[in-house]
Amino acid sequence: MKKKDTIQSLGPGDMVDALFVISNAEIREGKRGQYITCTISDATGTMACKIWGVNGQNALVKGAYDVMSEGMVHHIAGQASPYNGELQMSVNEGIMYLMEGPADHTLLDPNDFVFSPADCTKNRAELLQMAAGIERPGLRELVEEVFASYEAFFLVPAARAKHHAYRGGLAEHTLEVVRYTEAFLAGAEGIRTDRDVAVAGALLHDVGKAVCFAEQGFSFSQLPTYSLLGHISPGISIIEQMAEDSSVDRQDLSHLLHIVQTHHGLYSDPKPQTVEAWAVHQADNTSAILHEVASDVEDTGPGESRFGSRLKGPVYHFPEVMDVVYNCREPPEMPERHSPAPDGKDDEKSDLSQWC
Ligand SMILES: [Fe+2]
Repeated sequence: MKKKDTIQSLGPGDMVDALFVISNAEIREGKRGQYITCTISDATGTMACKIWGVNGQNALVKGAYDVMSEGMVHHIAGQASPYNGELQMSVNEGIMYLMEGPADHTLLDPNDFVFSPADCTKNRAELLQMAAGIERPGLRELVEEVFASYEAFFLVPAARAKHHAYRGGLAEHTLEVVRYTEAFLAGAEGIRTDRDVAVAGALLHDVGKAVCFAEQGFSFSQLPTYSLLGHISPGISIIEQMAEDSSVDRQDLSHLLHIVQTHHGLYSDPKPQTVEAWAVHQADNTSAILHEVASDVEDTGPGESRFGSRLKGPVYHFPEVMDVVYNCREPPEMPERHSPAPDGKDDEKSDLSQWC
């Protein structure tokens, strides 16, 4: 079966009739009856999707929801339209195609449907190299043993929807957290820091997520563990269990567990209490926030400001700088200049060669 109409090719008002992966499906109660909210994706990207059905026919919506399968490919017939600054798919009459259930994924090409901007092989190799760079043997062996026992770590997403929410996203996020942690420590003047324990903490801070997702079809579904326990306590359990048969120093283990326990969110409980734990905490936030802002800005037009759904705050797309620096396009047209200076010196001249 050949794929047509990719997510990337869609524009406002486009009518769509194509196959997409469905994930994060939830049935909700609206003013006009039940509807389904979900994410649709293919190899080119992801998009929010609302399945309204027709005239609040709850039975139809419930029927479509019951045959939907997370990570599987479904027939989507609807219209792409802007909502809160982002394109969103709306399905009304097309709900009848969803009633057919998922397509046989053995007949489909994964290259058309698996969404992952991450280079999983390269990121895995780089993370293993970072682990091998830990100098204290006990800490190094513990980190390497965890990675060897939880291969899923290198494949699962880092989140359901916010940042790094794609195949290999957790490994990519972890790589960034180690880099930021090392940069923070290197940037601190006159502070004694323990690089080994900070790098080990950065490498393992989200290891609990390795057991929070399961591969299904062309995507990953979230396991109940994630919503019931979160990802920190499963991570602590994994490390404690692996440490039982390891030679890791007990103080190093305590510090590592403190870093994992305190890394998450703006207000972790308890708060970080060491320089290394704060470094990983800030590195984790930095990695998440930069990706959230970048994704929100990417969906806006030049000169546009809007509320970023991932950042949960306003974002702005500076037209010239974004276009010139990131896309290396032609420099922007400069505003009309006044007459040259009387002495002949063209001191207003700007050097635009710096842009590319
Ligand atoms: Fe994280």
